[in-house]
Amino acid sequence: MKSTTQKKKILVTGGTGYIGSHTCVELIQSGYDVVIIDDQSNSTSASLKGIEKITGTRPEFHPFNLCESSHLDSFFKSHQTLQGVIHFAAFKAVGESVEKPLAYYRNNLISLMNLLEMMTKYEVPHLVFSSSCTVYGQPDELPVTEQAPIKKAASPYGNTKQICEEIIEDTLNANPGLQGISLRYFNPIGAHESGLIGELPAGTPNNLMPFITQTAIGLRSSLKVFGNDYDTPDGTCIRDYIHVVDLAKAHVRAIERLLEKQNKTEYEYFNLGTGKGSSVMEIIQSFERTSGQKLNYEIVARRSGDVVKIYADTQYANQELGWKAHKGLDEMTESAWNWEKKYRERQSTSK
Ligand code: WQD
Repeated sequence: MKSTTQKKKILVTGGTGYIGSHTCVELIQSGYDVVIIDDQSNSTSASLKGIEKITGTRPEFHPFNLCESSHLDSFFKSHQTLQGVIHFAAFKAVGESVEKPLAYYRNNLISLMNLLEMMTKYEVPHLVFSSSCTVYGQPDELPVTEQAPIKKAASPYGNTKQICEEIIEDTLNANPGLQGISLRYFNPIGAHESGLIGELPAGTPNNLMPFITQTAIGLRSSLKVFGNDYDTPDGTCIRDYIHVVDLAKAHVRAIERLLEKQNKTEYEYFNLGTGKGSSVMEIIQSFERTSGQKLNYEIVARRSGDVVKIYADTQYANQELGWKAHKGLDEMTESAWNWEKKYRERQSTSK
């Protein structure tokens, strides 16, 4: 553990969210000081309590949106010892982005541009950006490497990720003092083993895992499986599911790479997956195995925009970033179920 005088301070935007809160836990447990900015549009301060219970430290928290540029300027003015920023804060529901494209472009792009302006103005040198494998669309070759061509995004959400990466690259090229890494996530699922933090989508879940656990707990009548007539072994789509704690640890490695000047160029990007593809049915089977209960599901029509198959080539992240995912599918589904049960228990006892 570093002594308090040496602790490096990292800003985590979106730090009360699903991946952000797990990353704050790993940062604190790696000896960093964490400051969070989050407008809580898709999270609650309950995760602050969870982070505190897990680590014994409640991070400094500022509830506002990064699009409020004057608020952000005064934040940076009063935090001139920041060593780096991990930027999660963004709208991230694929389906919603199709219905509300301008809200997504405005929020996701302006918040990033404000952040980069402040980092330049206040000379905060290191940025880790939360990106996504959606930048690849349906890859021509699998597993997909970082050299795979960027394809036209299937949604405004995916397009904001592509545009953000370009904004970051151009800004870093123009400002030698700034260095950055984009982390392209595949499909993060699961929760911290304590069950104190986890995925809590606002409203009806868009993603598979929270829909499964909410169906199993009785909040949803059944899971709809979007198509089983794809060209895959069991007919359902294949994804590279990665445990959120493995993903969070990759963020600590990425900020350390920048702080220790191990990066080879001012802008780098890495695929964060396990390298293994799993189908929707395999996720359901894993969940039934680890929860010990049958899941109620029905096969329905395909969901538009779904890619059939995508999973990561992880060699570059393993060798260059010095990071590898370790947790398997059963640990992911078991931890997701543990979180769902513990969260609902806490809700019912707090009423
Ligand atoms: C996975 C599979 C669905 C729900 C998106 C974003 C990605 C990242 C993760 C933010 C697909 C099937 C799903 C359901 C289903 N987001 N499914 N019934 O679309 O791969 O990725 O979320 O970081 O950037 O693109 O994830 O969980 O929605 O879908 O059958 O109720 O589960 O068809 O095959 P996706 P997902």
